[in-house]
Amino acid sequence: MKKPRGVLIAGNWKMNHGLSETNGFFDILSAQSKAALPKNAEGLLKSGALRALVIPTATSLQTARNRTEKNPFPLAIGAQNAHGEKSGAFTGEISGPMLQELNIRWVLIGHSERRQFFGETDSSVRKRCEGLLSQGFHVMLCVGETRAERERGETFKILERQLSGVFAEPEKGAATFLDGRLVLAYEPVWAIGTGLTATPEQAEEAHQMIRKWLWDHFGMDASGRTPILYGGSVTPQNIDSLLACANIDGGLVGGASLKPDSFLALLAAGAKALS
Ligand code: 13P
Repeated sequence: MKKPRGVLIAGNWKMNHGLSETNGFFDILSAQSKAALPKNAEGLLKSGALRALVIPTATSLQTARNRTEKNPFPLAIGAQNAHGEKSGAFTGEISGPMLQELNIRWVLIGHSERRQFFGETDSSVRKRCEGLLSQGFHVMLCVGETRAERERGETFKILERQLSGVFAEPEKGAATFLDGRLVLAYEPVWAIGTGLTATPEQAEEAHQMIRKWLWDHFGMDASGRTPILYGGSVTPQNIDSLLACANIDGGLVGGASLKPDSFLALLAAGAKALS
């Protein structure tokens, strides 16, 4: 296989697609998948070499989860955020056990929109990651620099701070987090929703730095096993050149994941990268 960690295509729907749009998405996805996906995709999806994940808004989670049962190919559903505590006085939050009741195993944590607009910090992101990983979730942790930080030449410094912020206390067992349930997503903030995709060289450089950081802190196995996705204006048109990079193991896609035909085109690109 060309990509040792396979390919993961994750669609972050953000605050889009309520119940009727979610049902509409799955109606079209089921109807079109056979024609839109290459022949080898079914085997790759069944074996888990190619993984598909959709991350809807909270009120659409249950419907999306139910629809995956009849989907023609395996598709996981994830939540856009969750609290690290199992219950308590945390108005507006969702807990791990609540997601488990819906049979949801994936959670996105630390998205830049949570950090930028809702006051999430390295410390709150760490607590969410620790709580959810200890409850058995697959966690997709997002990191990435702003445009000003990149222009100041601080990209690596910011990534290092965000990673160390989450894994600040390895003695608390952070190393055990890297057991295959952690996925990292490099999403440069300046590339999100702007149409300004990072070049494959810019993305690969950041991914290499993240992989080296994992190696330095958790060793070769954890570093080699952890998928690192790229996010920020990924489209069916530009994904091939991103997936061609050795350290880019998939895409975390916003806008281009909202339409079933475009999501299928991203999965088709994943299958192509694996063949
Ligand atoms: P866009 O693909 O719309 O740029 O969004 C990226 C993103 O933030 C995914 O989490």
